[in-house]
Amino acid sequence: GGRAEPFATFRLPFALGHGRKLLPPEPTDTLEAYRAQGGLRALEAARKGDLTPEALLKAVEEAGLLGRGGAAFPTHLKLRAVARGEAPRYLVVNGDESEPGNFKDRFLLEHHPFLVLEGALLAGFAVGASRVYLYIREEFQAAIRGLKEAIGALEEAGLLLVPTEVFQSGGLYICGEETALLESMEGRRAEPRLKPPFPVEKGLWGRPTAVQNVETLAAIPRILEGLEAWRREEPKLFSISGDVAAPGLYELPLGTPLGEALRRAGGEPEGLKAVLLGGAAGVFTRDFAFPLRYRERLPLGAGAVVAFGEGVDLWAVLEGLAHFFQEESCGKCFPCPLGTTVQLALVQRRVRDARLVEDLASTLKGSLCGLGQSAYWAYRSLLEVEGAA
Ligand code: NAI
Ligand code: SF4
Repeated sequence: GGRAEPFATFRLPFALGHGRKLLPPEPTDTLEAYRAQGGLRALEAARKGDLTPEALLKAVEEAGLLGRGGAAFPTHLKLRAVARGEAPRYLVVNGDESEPGNFKDRFLLEHHPFLVLEGALLAGFAVGASRVYLYIREEFQAAIRGLKEAIGALEEAGLLLVPTEVFQSGGLYICGEETALLESMEGRRAEPRLKPPFPVEKGLWGRPTAVQNVETLAAIPRILEGLEAWRREEPKLFSISGDVAAPGLYELPLGTPLGEALRRAGGEPEGLKAVLLGGAAGVFTRDFAFPLRYRERLPLGAGAVVAFGEGVDLWAVLEGLAHFFQEESCGKCFPCPLGTTVQLALVQRRVRDARLVEDLASTLKGSLCGLGQSAYWAYRSLLEVEGAA
């Protein structure tokens, strides 16, 4: 089930921070509906020349927008780096969300395609992209259909500032890693590339490319509508699931304590055994006072919050995660297939030896991409949660 209202009340002052439970969604899946909720103003300003690429980049910088895919890299730095590069340049929307516990991008793509497209077109306009690609997870067929229709409607309205197309992903978890994503777009096996060079320098077909998460781009129209409101209270989507009364998507100000986020979703923090914060590439925690914001002690990831009640066997959950990593490891580098296989064996035997887990961590840290590098976080954090209990 889901109670959600991401961006439904589009005008900023109403959208944020009133401490109320968010309402069911009001979809904006037609041009008219989106316009009626305040959309398209920034895009129209860009078309008319009232909004310049530099003004746009400046607003994103002043907003302090950090990438919403999980790594929290400053968005303006990425966009500026691409804008400085030589043409042709590209903007790729990473809509390959597949991390267990996360369902925010899917929601945005399915229910607010114009919002995502407006953000993507604005970012494409800002970097001088010759094309915008929407890389969408194969399972999101409804989103793919809706986006194609939305692209057509924007074109008809004369608002498709940059030629835009939809690309259906290859259907593996690793396709969401930005360089594996680019490889698959180029028709090769989806395996991560060594970074640097970062895609801003050598991305799609070796050209400067900004690969941006769906939610990051959806934030851009809102920033342009009201920078001050954004800075006062920065909204973030949280996918809250598990043992809460009203699982769903919640838009909360960054900095909301974890316990408060759970209560919004009808959860009782006191009655929970632990929460998995950040999804598969996340950590178990019982720190309910933890403020949900970036660059803190715990990783927010893409904003997944999975609650586990007293009856849940957390080791069984961990085993599921270990299995997931072992299976999704692409096999390109050495530490990751080895580490994730050893991890699964250790978890299956319920090994609680912290030294062994540190050994495992030091192996996995040498992995090529984020999948291997974060695969042990949940394991290590479960030992910590148990140790503190
Ligand atoms: P990263 O830190 O390598 O990069 C983040 C972004 O910043 C990338 O676009 C990268 O190209 C760019 N970047 C970093 N340093 C740069 C530099 N010096 N110059 C220019 N650009 C630079 O992290 P990565 O591997 O892209 O993402 C890892 C995160 O993904 C994890 O934190 C995890 O939470 C998240 N994740 C999200 C999933 C989802 O479904 N949304 C699934 C799995 C993981
Ligand atoms: Fe592939 Fe894992 Fe290495 Fe990433 S860390 S390149 S998923 S084998």
